[in-house]
Parts: sequence; C-alpha cells; structure tokens
Amino acid sequence: MSQYFHQTTDFLVIGSGVAGIRAALSASRYGRVVILNKGDLHESASQKAQGGVAAALNEEESDIESHYQDTVDAGHGLCNPEAVRILVEEGPKRILELIEWGARFDKIGSQFATALEGAHSKGRILRAKGDATGAELIRTLVERAKGNSNLTLLPSHFAIDLIVEDGVCRGVFVLDPAGMIYPFFARGVVLASGGVGQVFARTTNPAVATGDGIAMALRAGATVSDMEFIQFHPTALFLPNGVPFLLSEAMRGEGASLCNAKRKRFMSAYHPDAELASRDIVTRAIWNEMRRGEAIYLDITHLNADFVRERFPTIDKTCLEWGIDITRDLIPIAPAAHYMMGGVKTDLSGRTNIKQLWAAGEVAATGVHGANRLASNALLEGLVFGARVGEDLKEAQPYLLSPQLKPLGQENRPPSPENKAYEIVQAQMKACMWNDVGIIRSCASLDRAVKQLKAFEWVFSISCGSRLALETRNLLMVSAALILAAKTRKESVGAHFLENAPIGQTPFSPDHFSFNWETIQKEILSES
Ligand code: SIN
Repeated sequence: MSQYFHQTTDFLVIGSGVAGIRAALSASRYGRVVILNKGDLHESASQKAQGGVAAALNEEESDIESHYQDTVDAGHGLCNPEAVRILVEEGPKRILELIEWGARFDKIGSQFATALEGAHSKGRILRAKGDATGAELIRTLVERAKGNSNLTLLPSHFAIDLIVEDGVCRGVFVLDPAGMIYPFFARGVVLASGGVGQVFARTTNPAVATGDGIAMALRAGATVSDMEFIQFHPTALFLPNGVPFLLSEAMRGEGASLCNAKRKRFMSAYHPDAELASRDIVTRAIWNEMRRGEAIYLDITHLNADFVRERFPTIDKTCLEWGIDITRDLIPIAPAAHYMMGGVKTDLSGRTNIKQLWAAGEVAATGVHGANRLASNALLEGLVFGARVGEDLKEAQPYLLSPQLKPLGQENRPPSPENKAYEIVQAQMKACMWNDVGIIRSCASLDRAVKQLKAFEWVFSISCGSRLALETRNLLMVSAALILAAKTRKESVGAHFLENAPIGQTPFSPDHFSFNWETIQKEILSES
C-alpha cells in the first residue's frame, strides 16, 4: 500500500453524534480513535434533539420495569426484548456517568426535573436548558473527547465507502476537504452516521442525514432490517417556505393541545390518550385531519407565558423569528420525517454481519425501537449502545493490509453529470418518497415509487464524484431499501401503515424483514 497516500488508526468512527462520540470514548482505552464527520462536528440529529433523554435515574426496579413496558408498548410488540432490557437497565448508569462528566440537566430545587411525553406512563425525561438536551449532551461528550489524547476529531471528511476484503472491514475511502480521496485503514470501523430523514421532502433532520452509513453498509454486503419503520414526528412547524423546525413533544407533555383553525381539538376521537398517544398514532391523526382539508395547530397559549418562554427557549426564539409568538398564537404544524427505527442489523454489542464493522445509534437496528420509537429513547440508545460498541472494539483483530487494494482515486473518477442533475434527482425522489412511501402507503403508491426509483438507476453506478453526487446515490439506495421493506410487510403496524391491509399480527422475530443489497436489486430494480 505504500505507493498510495493513506492513513491508519486503530479505530474509525463515522459520525459525531451521541452514539459516535460515546463509542469513541470507550474505544480510546484500547487504541487510537479517529472520528470522521462529513460536515461540522456539531452537525448531527443528536445536537438538534430537544425534548430529552428518558431514564429511570433512581434505578428502582419498578421504574426500570415501567420504562421497559412503555418502550415495548410504543414499539407495538416488535421490539427485541433483550435490546430493550439492556437499554432501560444500562441507561441510568450512562446518564449518571454523563452527569459526572459535567452534563447539566435542568433541576427543580435540588431534584432533576422530569417531563412527560407521548406513550410514557410517567414523567421520566431529563432535559437541559429547557429544550436543548441534545446540544448539552454533545457539549459534554465533545469536551471529554477533546481532553483525550487517543482521540482525534476530523470534521469535513466524507466517508465514501467501506473497504472490505474477504468479508473483513479494513477501513474506509475518505473524501477530504481538499477533494482528495484516499484509504483510511483501521482494525475496527464504527458506523454512527445517523439517520435518513433527507430521503423525504419534509424532515426535522439536519442536511447531513442522507443515510450514508446504511448505504455504504449495503454496498459492502451488510444486512439491514426494519427499514419500513420511519418515524414521522407529529409536530414540525408548517409555514410556506419555512423549515420544518421541530416542536418538541414535551410541549404536549406540558399540556399543549392539537386543534384546527376553529380551535377545535380532535385527538380524543383517535385515541384515549389524545395528544399523548404514541407518535405514530398522533401523526396519522393529524395527517387524516389535513387530508380532510383542515389546517392543524399546536396550542400552548393557555399556559403562563413566562413559564412557556423559560421552558421552551429555543422553540420560542425560533418561532419568533418566523413571526409566531408561541405564548399568544396558534402554531401551524404538520408531521415531518424524524427518525429511522431500522438500519444496519446488529447484535447486542453492535456487531454487524461484516467482521470488524460495528454500528451504533440511529444507523443501527438493534431492534430496540420495534415498529415505533418511544419518545426520548434515541439519545439514551446512543449512549447505551455507543458505550457497548466502544467496549466491544477491544476484540478487534490486528489488520493485515492487502497489497492488491486499488484505491478509489481522482484518476478513476468516471465523467459525472453536473451537480444540477443530482439536485433534480434528489428533489424528485424526495417528493416521491414523501407522497408515496410516507405516513400512509398503499400497494399502488409503492409501485409508483419503484417506477420513480428506476428512472434514476444510472445514479447507482457512480463510484466517485462530488459529495452531492455521492449523497444522492446514498439517498437512492436507502429509498430502495425502504420501498422493498414497505412492500414486504403486508400488514399495518406502528409507523408502517398500508391502506387496506390488516393490522399487524406478526410477532417479533430477529430475522424478519432483513435483507441485503443483492436482494434489493433483485426484488426492486430488476422487477419488470
Ligand atoms: C422531541 O423533543 O419531540 C423529539 C425528541 C425525540 O425524538 O425523542
């Protein structure tokens, strides 16, 4: 390999959200770790997480048990019970450790403040700075990472593809900020690259959430599962030309209601828990009302204005920038794609089916969320499974570099269309995914999505190019996986709702609805 420019480290972590940094911190006990992020270090869904992090902080058995039960119930029976057990039992330890590292959660008097969100049977959600919990977790973890001499944070480095030889992951090809592409070798690689929200026209996710980890894992031969389960957050700001800014579920936890333009509430017609039913139920109710021509609003005006401003400072500030005073005005909302329950299939230590390749956080499918994630379990999953992966990396074997490896390089870049072409592909595919593979699907809409995807099949053959080109390929691969998963599950359950299909009866099974890129190509792309 010496004829090529390359870099080496012990462990490579792709992504700098909560799961990635937490994994890196543990792994740094066993070797040098490099965290790659394609954008700014703070560009992640974790950073934007508002509501909080759920945990039975007092570690009392009955509280752990009720957290377990709420998670399983919200997941509509499709959670992997072992994964949920780990989440709720190890969660409190991970939070206490974070507090020891300097995380500042909000308190009322001397006690940590605990909030309620949808489908929680009790208030167990910790928060920071009112509605900026993710930012506080990232601040704490980044500070700790910066004081660690075994850990390097590399922003603006885009991981293009995994290097896999003989079924073993050896590293990744990286596109650096100068436009150079080179191999970065490691004896353990962790995908912690977050979710896929950018597959859809409307999402609360940051621009970086283009499903890169899932797509590169698919290209490398990994198995994905639960891809049909996309969580649409019920309440994102809905304004002409406005961004779908997240309006935390914690607002409903504090008493905010959903209503139409005449201030008429409707949620109790859909579920006895009304606004605090699980997210999939609230989202579909809003969608149903909107399809009947209603404009839908979030209303928190009945609460004390000073309390609201103090409790939700980020939301208050952002809404004011759009001309909405949340203490006086109804807030126009609509659902938006928010979280991927599925992803790269892993075991309980985050191992994938490719040796030396791990996955943690939103990119991974441990089965912890089933068909619908319980609110505020995402940051917890990142902490718990990130730590497990970091610990498991001590098992990574020393690597042997193959002298045959041909790096992707400038010289073998195929001629690539202008970026404008990729912008058009993305816009059309995102609109199609939103309309046809979104909150409510049908057999006909899924067939339309296959047709649209096939029109862009040429994108699958690119191997190098601009970041936009490579992200477009990733978005299309993730779309293909999602469409196949949605076509395969012929019943409605949790976040997957198929018109005219029976309500899901299939129980949890670790091997259901898992497939690889070969199957996706056969079933979706070569289908006539
Ligand atoms: C929210 O604050 O509503 C989002 C938190 C989450 O996704 O669990």
